[in-house]
Amino acid sequence: MFLGIDVGTSAVKALLIDENSATIAETDVPLSVSNPHPFWSEQNPSDWWNATLRAIDELHRQNPTAIAATRAIGLSGQMHGATLLDVHDRPLRPAILWNDGRAKQECDELDALLPDLGYRAGVATMPGMTAPKMIWLRKHEPDLFTKIKTILLPKDYIRFCLSGEKITEMSDAAGTLWLDEAQRDWNEQAVAACDISMNQLPTLVEGSNIAGTLRAELANRWGIKPGTIIAGGGGDAATGGIGVGAVRHGDGFISLGTSSQIFVASDKYRPKPEELLHSFTHAIPGHWFQMAVLLNGASCLQWAAKLLGESDIGALLDRVEAHHHAPSDILFLPYLNGERTPHNNPYARGVFFGLGSDTSRETLVQSALEGVAFALSDAQSRLHAAGTRCALPGVIGGGARSRYWTQLISDIMGGPLARYQGAAKGPAFGAARLARLALGQESVEEVCQKPVIEEVIEPDMSRHESYQPRFAKFRRVYTALAEEFT
Ligand code: XUL
Repeated sequence: MFLGIDVGTSAVKALLIDENSATIAETDVPLSVSNPHPFWSEQNPSDWWNATLRAIDELHRQNPTAIAATRAIGLSGQMHGATLLDVHDRPLRPAILWNDGRAKQECDELDALLPDLGYRAGVATMPGMTAPKMIWLRKHEPDLFTKIKTILLPKDYIRFCLSGEKITEMSDAAGTLWLDEAQRDWNEQAVAACDISMNQLPTLVEGSNIAGTLRAELANRWGIKPGTIIAGGGGDAATGGIGVGAVRHGDGFISLGTSSQIFVASDKYRPKPEELLHSFTHAIPGHWFQMAVLLNGASCLQWAAKLLGESDIGALLDRVEAHHHAPSDILFLPYLNGERTPHNNPYARGVFFGLGSDTSRETLVQSALEGVAFALSDAQSRLHAAGTRCALPGVIGGGARSRYWTQLISDIMGGPLARYQGAAKGPAFGAARLARLALGQESVEEVCQKPVIEEVIEPDMSRHESYQPRFAKFRRVYTALAEEFT
């Protein structure tokens, strides 16, 4: 049995898989995000830990025999979050998350110091990354800044709670701007540019290496063998890739979660910061990936449903599909949390354009679904400009549950998409696979198999054509408004 834990933004997910990769038990414990100021996005590390304890307690309640047979544990997590510990290893403040936009000016300062950073760090300097947040803290919370003993990433804080070890691994370190992606090692120059020292950073390992063992009191609590190993694991993008077997060059997927990504595995490091792509180290040695990151995804649907007082999203989608009229009369810019690829604009915000007195709630929701699909097309064009293609991406994450939305995305993007079995558990499942690899008894090829394809959705190319003028307008509306987002 292998235990995978994903410290997400909307929930901590935990799942147990057996030797045949079948899911034996799984739990989700919800989390909330706090936005104390415009563009800020924070969570308390103690909330992650309490949710992790509850999630594993619940697995234990569901199936004590299975959890007792755990041979290894793997971790996955939301990337980039600055998690700051004091000299007593206590969190100094809420973690500053991946979708926090406060450090835009500090990105410009970092760029002025290290103009070529994007080529070593794999990504243009963006406020969601960890490094500019430290420059912001030095400026705005100087007393706290001097008290920082250790800087961890979210899942590595959970590793610390589980094992007492301060360790990270390549694929999460990749999102700090402090990693030399080609060398798979810390870039001391980038670390020094943020006025921090190497001993504030965790030790660096590969995601499929051993990185800690479970503390005895926790092992006793869940009936797990004391000393059970914890794998390095990965950032949620990489563990999503491991979960769907996106390892070999050109393998890829689209994740439709709180944020969304188009991910394509790569045989070498291919930096393209000018296209606002993320070129990061994968969670297994000798592999990298390229990724377009959208700060919005299924979250747009959830937001629209909540605002409209619709508690049953499945029923809402059924109604929207029944009313479907393509393209919708309304355009939606889905930038509720700003945007990375292709805009690098933390200040971008959502826009409904073209509302009329006859606009129905179904049309609003359809336009939200289309807006995310247009944003994915926009991001895909940056991958194409970088010469990166994926023949048949699978769709994972909460949004993948809707066949209707997946078809719409396929139509708008103009390419086929695969729907997998068990799509929603991507990163936690990938983490469990890394746990398995850390035992050192099986190869990447054996463990990282692709999921069974439930269905290949082919694009309706006449619809694709009919959407092109709307897509062009979507881009024009953003361009017209870009200066107004401040
Ligand atoms: C990737 C990214 C998000 C977060 C949250 O660069 O910011 O995927 O990891 O899931």
